[in-house]
Amino acid sequence: MAILSILQYPDPRLHKVAAPVTAFDDRLRSLVADMAETMYAAPGVGLAATQVDRHVQVIVADVSEKHDRLLVLVNPQIVEGSGVSTLEEGCLSVPDIYDTVPRYERIRFRACDARGATFEQEAQGLLAVCIQHEMDHLKGRVFVEYLSRLKQTRIAARMRKQQRRAM
Ligand code: NI
Repeated sequence: MAILSILQYPDPRLHKVAAPVTAFDDRLRSLVADMAETMYAAPGVGLAATQVDRHVQVIVADVSEKHDRLLVLVNPQIVEGSGVSTLEEGCLSVPDIYDTVPRYERIRFRACDARGATFEQEAQGLLAVCIQHEMDHLKGRVFVEYLSRLKQTRIAARMRKQQRRAM
């Protein structure tokens, strides 16, 4: 396993659209293992393959307190959504920025696991928001892009400043 580096907004690679996974092989399982390790180390509650510059439809998430309930979603789809969430979200690609964006409070989703078996499940609250956030990454969308132009300009300036300092 390995810790992968996470792309930082406004990196243009965060706007790539992920392709569906077609081969459920060892390469996929090794990507999933690396993504889980990277997410836990960050630490974060969710990570999309897009964020580690792999443009395939793979998400890992774990919103449990003990970090012992890893959820792996390959080729995820939202089947149903209801309610309006008011939870603030953050992103490992946009450190230190937290805000609310339009999300369902409850969802029903369908996905494959790392072996290619399809499953359907319901989620609410933090997990529901997390899955919608990560699915946006797979479409090339970062959560701050829902915010006002003014906020986005400020965030991009702040990120560039941080990145210059880190170099
Ligand atoms: Ni994110």
